[in-house]
Amino acid sequence: MAICEDVLKMLENADEAMSGEEIAQRLGVSRNSVWKAVNRLKEEGYKISAVTNKGYTLVSEGDSVSDFAVKKYLKSNSSNLRIMVRDEVTSTQTVLKELGDKGEEGNLVLIAHRQTAGKGRLGRSFEAPKNSGLYMSILLRPAIPAEKALFITTAAAAATSKAIKTVTDKETQIKWVNDVYYQGKKICGILTEANLDFESGGLNYAVLGIGVNITAPPGGFPKEISDVATALYTKEPPEQIRAKLAAEILSNFMEYYNDLESKAFMEEYRKRSFLTGREIVFTQGNISETGRVLDIDDNARLVVKLDSGETKTYMAGEVSIVKNFT
Ligand code: BTN
Repeated sequence: MAICEDVLKMLENADEAMSGEEIAQRLGVSRNSVWKAVNRLKEEGYKISAVTNKGYTLVSEGDSVSDFAVKKYLKSNSSNLRIMVRDEVTSTQTVLKELGDKGEEGNLVLIAHRQTAGKGRLGRSFEAPKNSGLYMSILLRPAIPAEKALFITTAAAAATSKAIKTVTDKETQIKWVNDVYYQGKKICGILTEANLDFESGGLNYAVLGIGVNITAPPGGFPKEISDVATALYTKEPPEQIRAKLAAEILSNFMEYYNDLESKAFMEEYRKRSFLTGREIVFTQGNISETGRVLDIDDNARLVVKLDSGETKTYMAGEVSIVKNFT
């Protein structure tokens, strides 16, 4: 609803209360449209006071995530993104994959306040209680061979870690291949699911999902993950944090995605690598090997010097840390 954006901008910039009539006149719309826009803004969580004979004042922006709030913070490189926000979905991944199957165009973003069946990697579930996190997926139609789909995840991890620094001033690190860590614990998981076109060897579409823990769920993280998971804020987060973070992640990601072949994201990724220099256990299926991580190469593969002396590069697998390298 474009008028919401305009009314919001006007209230943000006003030094004193503005009447519905004045807003309507300035925007060239009816008073009824202004009234509807104000109500929608209130529903989205904006606190707007209305005083008889004076008008509307924006008291606070709350933690609302709406299509127009996200658009407001998007950089111009991402203006072609279509943004949808839903109160509750099963999983933003599932919804976008269904749309992808039906031929929906790419560059569609879905953000949900809550997921009832959030999906994690390797068939795991992902806890997504109401308003505790940013739960977002993007439907993409990249013209890349299937083996390069890994770069979507890598670029998203770099985009997210960088965005968190910009928006919250908090330093995070990337645990290969796609987790973002804050103070040694996971605060963000990333999942890319692709639909392959076997004839061309390319992708029909990919759905990239990003889940960031902004605060702990009410009652804390479930026991099984409380040792390994954390959130960006222990107390009330700053206003508009989810909308700002969503927009910043999307803007960073689109910059990388629009030029995926150049792998410009790798510099940011390496700079933030959590594993480099650490002693690890690498597990793939039922094979486990121990060694020290030397680097992440240009193809986003983990380079490990094994205890046997051999150096190996891995494309996928699970890593756990043995101890810090000092
Ligand atoms: C993982 O760490 O295992 C990946 C978690 C990915 C979670 C996000 S939240 C938004 C999107 N929708 C989902 O159901 N999953 C991803």
